[in-house]
Amino acid sequence: MTPTMLLPRPDSVASGNGVFTLDTSTGITASGELAPTARWLQSVLRPATGLPLPMTGMAAPSPGGSTLALDLDPDLPAEGYRLACGPGGVTITGGDTAGVFYGCQALRQLLPPQIYRAAEAAGVRWAVPYGNIEDAPRFRWRGAMLDVARHFMPKHGVLRFLDLLAMHRINTLHLHLTDDQGWRVEILRHPRLTEVGSWRRESQLGAAPDAPNDGRPHGGYYTQGDLREIVAYAAERHITVVPEIDVPGHSQAAIAAYPALGVRGELLETSPRWGVNTNILNAEESTLGFFLEVFDEVMDLFPGPFIGIGGDECPTDQWDADPRTRELIRERGLAGSRELQAWFLGRIGAHVAARGRRVFGWDEILEGDVPEGIVVASWRGMTGARTAARRGYDVVSCPDDQAYLDYRQSELESEPIPFAVPLTLADAYGFDPVPDGLTGDEADRILGGQANVWTEHMDSPRAVDYYVFPRLCAIAEVLWSRGERDFDDFLVRLRTHLARLDALGVEYRREDGPRPWQTRPGIPGKPATRADWAELIDGLVASIKI
Ligand code: ACM
Repeated sequence: MTPTMLLPRPDSVASGNGVFTLDTSTGITASGELAPTARWLQSVLRPATGLPLPMTGMAAPSPGGSTLALDLDPDLPAEGYRLACGPGGVTITGGDTAGVFYGCQALRQLLPPQIYRAAEAAGVRWAVPYGNIEDAPRFRWRGAMLDVARHFMPKHGVLRFLDLLAMHRINTLHLHLTDDQGWRVEILRHPRLTEVGSWRRESQLGAAPDAPNDGRPHGGYYTQGDLREIVAYAAERHITVVPEIDVPGHSQAAIAAYPALGVRGELLETSPRWGVNTNILNAEESTLGFFLEVFDEVMDLFPGPFIGIGGDECPTDQWDADPRTRELIRERGLAGSRELQAWFLGRIGAHVAARGRRVFGWDEILEGDVPEGIVVASWRGMTGARTAARRGYDVVSCPDDQAYLDYRQSELESEPIPFAVPLTLADAYGFDPVPDGLTGDEADRILGGQANVWTEHMDSPRAVDYYVFPRLCAIAEVLWSRGERDFDDFLVRLRTHLARLDALGVEYRREDGPRPWQTRPGIPGKPATRADWAELIDGLVASIKI
């Protein structure tokens, strides 16, 4: 075996002489605790090989045959694994069940790429080279955010996306479930959120402010049953789903459903336009109570430790102009609308904390008093990451110019709806979640990072494939692999890896640009230079409290 076979790059690989071949005599052995992992391994190896790969307990390996043996060793690091391949088969030992799972993902990569096909691939020799791998991740938060609010991703697309994340050792899916343009989670106590808020009449076509609308309805939502299925499917793949209900801005879909939630009480539609929106929630106790009920249902659906409350891009124009809101600010002894936003998020944060969960919010939250136990998602560059770590908060880094996968992938004019700065594969590979200038203790506050997939300009899973891959492969390596980075070495391993994505039918961006059907001729984008963009972001983060 050679390191070129693996992506993300493992800590160490020692090659042996020879190959082990899976055949009809091969079985899978695992102790009770690892039975679900063994079942998953069987389910991913059976279709392409056509082999039965029966499962047996540790004590009774299949007589005379070869084995894929799964085991635990608590002395190995969390999520780490050791893989050994020799004449008798393959042994995968993990520091925990997640480690065993990642060892199994490595095993898939040691097989020919046809292993990723969904039906029997005839004439392939299912050989695994002899050798040993030792491996463990650099960061514990290895995430991807999927915006299912701007364009709905059907449930089967989310399940497929989870499989692709797991293949890249990503362990966190942050689901951006609500925004001005759509509300995607069924809330039993407030059914109009999906009856009204889950669809819009039409969508802005393009990124320019004067872009036309397309005249075509768009919608969809997940029932609570769908979300339980998504969470369980993710858990089987060692992925935690972090739900986000974005408040008090980015809330027009909720206001469209229940006008009493808005500041002006006017009838609004689920927004057909992209961009930052002034139609925010009002700050009445009744509105807060409504959202505490929403968060209660969300916390029942998503058992993970982190609950996203948004907090980004909340222009306070309507609050500032509204006499009733000014009265609320006075009654609560607050200095102004920025403090009101912190008050609103603090109340929701306290409710989330009272249920034993931790608040996950965008870096605007650092502009006011911060809810207890927060994890800050630093998106406007790395200022939020640096500041939050220094102030003693946990951080997930997702700086827009390195980890926003909706940004254009090159300077080519043929990039579909070219938006923001070019964020090339090399830029994604250059992402470092740990900002410079931190002490060791401060750097320990960086839990990891994530790639954010905003979908204003991705109106189908095919488009998501184009924007996400292969940049997510680079970010996966950033988040998993320790040691020196080497982009040329990554590119060599990526070549092999793309054959796996081909076998899976992932429509990734080719090195030389979009294929004709991946372009969007005539649809205006909003490209920017890196210098202009940096100035814009610097202006936005100026109000973060140091
Ligand atoms: C964001 O991009 N508004 C978090």
